[in-house]
Amino acid sequence: MESPFKSDILHGKVALITGGGSGIGFEISTQYGKHGASVAIMGRRKAVLDSAVSALQSLGIPAVGFEGDVRKQEDAKRVVESTVKHFGRLDILVNAAAGNFLVSAEDLSPNGFRTVMDIDTVGTFTMCHEALNYLKKGGKGRSSSNGGMILNISATLHYTAAWYQIHVSAAKAAVDALARNLALEWGADYDIRVNGIAPGPISDTPGMSKLVPDEIESKAREYMPLYKLGDKWDIAMAALYLASDAGKYVNGATLVVDGGLWLSRPRH
Ligand code: HXC
Repeated sequence: MESPFKSDILHGKVALITGGGSGIGFEISTQYGKHGASVAIMGRRKAVLDSAVSALQSLGIPAVGFEGDVRKQEDAKRVVESTVKHFGRLDILVNAAAGNFLVSAEDLSPNGFRTVMDIDTVGTFTMCHEALNYLKKGGKGRSSSNGGMILNISATLHYTAAWYQIHVSAAKAAVDALARNLALEWGADYDIRVNGIAPGPISDTPGMSKLVPDEIESKAREYMPLYKLGDKWDIAMAALYLASDAGKYVNGATLVVDGGLWLSRPRH
């Protein structure tokens, strides 16, 4: 679908997207690139990164891939530094890397719980922490009056409760807390905006194929009147809005992009 935004709204910006080689992260990378940004993507799998970078470059987008795991501070540091070395600055950090699986709380080992907290929550904090020096006003390649922006991909699971996803609910609740607290501290001190997007079920993503078996999806359609799938495009458009000047007064918010699904109740 065609973008409603002008193609230069991110002109001259440099974005680093964790988990940018696949799913929602890749769509954000593509749309940021199509709207003028240079794009660095970070992921654990070299083959996925390589093909994503080729796809971006074939659209004329300046793109580079860096292997790394957000759970490792040395990887986070190296990838942030490599991005700045490659493109000269950093304006936008998108934390889209995530881990997930369905398991009952009873069967989930503490290490399984910790693994998802490590990827989603600690990984997000680590990336933000390593990027701070470059995103803050006066950081390398930046003016002294204007800071960059951070966008976290969250979820709506923790607004209520979610079957078999206690680990992800806890991790994403913490991710939203990171956005609010960093928005406060880094907004005040460094002119950095920190926001989130909470997607609903998005077709053609690892999340959907891992978490929503077909039979659950068809049942959900029956008892949730607002159940419809979104597209990766819907999330990328929200990500463009938040990263562009159109979103310059939005800070500490997590924008729900789910067609209203989390509000859904059975009809009487
Ligand atoms: C129960 C599991 C499990 C499963 C792993 N574990 N998979 N427990 N059911 N299906 C437990 C293991 O037993 C182990 O605990 C611990 O978790 C670590 O497992 P590893 O396999 O060593 O972890 P690792 O290789 O680091 O892989 C991380 C991962 C994996 C999260 C488990 O799935 C992954 O890499 N995922 C990344 C891609 C991904 O998931 N994308 C989907 C994102 S969708 P023990 O105790 O045995 O040592 C998304 C949507 C969120 O995030 C919002 C939803 C609406």
